[in-house]
Amino acid sequence: MNHYQAMVTRSVDKAIHSQMETLQRGELAPGEVLVQAHYAGVNYKDCLSLHGAARIITQFPRVAGIEVVGKVLESRSDQFRPGDMVLSHGFQRGIDVDGGFAELVQAPAEHLQALPPGLSAEQVAILGVPGFTAAMALERFEELGLKPDSGLVAISGAGGAVGRLAIHMLHRAGYRTAALTRNLSNEAALRALGASEVIDISQVIDSKRPIEKPQFAAGIDNVGGAVLSWMLRSLSDGGLLASVGNASGNTFDGSVLPFIMRRAQMFGIVANAPWPQRRRLWDRLAGDWRPDFAALQPDVRFIPPDELLVHARRQLEGGTSGRTVVRFGAAA
Ligand SMILES: NC(=O)c1ccc[n+]([C@@H]2O[C@H](COP(=O)([O-])OP(=O)(O)OC[C@H]3O[C@@H](n4cnc5c(N)ncnc54)[C@H](OP(=O)(O)O)[C@@H]3O)[C@@H](O)[C@H]2O)c1
Repeated sequence: MNHYQAMVTRSVDKAIHSQMETLQRGELAPGEVLVQAHYAGVNYKDCLSLHGAARIITQFPRVAGIEVVGKVLESRSDQFRPGDMVLSHGFQRGIDVDGGFAELVQAPAEHLQALPPGLSAEQVAILGVPGFTAAMALERFEELGLKPDSGLVAISGAGGAVGRLAIHMLHRAGYRTAALTRNLSNEAALRALGASEVIDISQVIDSKRPIEKPQFAAGIDNVGGAVLSWMLRSLSDGGLLASVGNASGNTFDGSVLPFIMRRAQMFGIVANAPWPQRRRLWDRLAGDWRPDFAALQPDVRFIPPDELLVHARRQLEGGTSGRTVVRFGAAA
């Protein structure tokens, strides 16, 4: 396979364009592995990259896609052999090095891991970065002493990929969750995933109160801005807030009151985790945090590579929900 299809993002006269192109594969350097992509999850960041909606990629041309699941075709590393099924996410893939939106992905062996035992390639792709990110937040909550009987856990951007997976995983781990969404038409789906409450976030975020009724033992925020501010003001005593995303923007207004009145603790999640944590959390995702994949099925959509650009535009406009994964021909 000397030629392959890839979604290539280029900068032309400072405007960003992405299109499917035929590329020629390069030589494998010592320690590198050639992976035939089967699946590549579509993350919010990828949508920004494909349409140049934020400065994610800085050197062009580039193949976007921060994650990939596939089969080793060739290897110049003794860690992997042809036929092995592997997963890669992070390590600046799809940003500083070519990413998952291509039939072939070349990567150093130290950026790859074998699929966790007990999860199929399709199941790993359904979880991908969003599932791993939710697992990072849950692990941190546990380290900080959160328990299922601590109280309600709020999850914003609930209709999105991280939101839905977080609701489902926390529910399976015994927590009660409140889904914060702008879109109440998702209510039945969010309850089916395990949400105990569904809150229309647009009805509450305009409050000007310096501190709100304490109602959440913890929160996972995927949105930023006024949503993050409201969640922080609504934490109960000792409440924990994981800042994960910026779907509504990078900034937020706030005061010290949640910290000095309610001992709030806020921390950030970065999915580009170090190796021991990657292996540990993927093992948990295959083990005690394994989702009920049948319950996730209505929230997952597989698309062919040529639908990627249209999908990414809709995801940026908030017109999609759940998890979308590109399925390549090799997965069939
Ligand atoms: N820190 C990390 O390592 C990490 C890892 C993964 C993802 N992220 C970030 O986390 C965020 C969520 O990722 P995702 O994959 O779940 O994205 P997604 O599938 O596109 O979902 C984002 C959700 O946020 C809500 N939303 C979107 N625009 C909004 C707006 N203007 N105001 C309020 N709510 C809005 C929507 O939920 P409703 O329709 O329910 O309101 C939407 O479904 C993104 O910012 C992503 O970049 C960060």
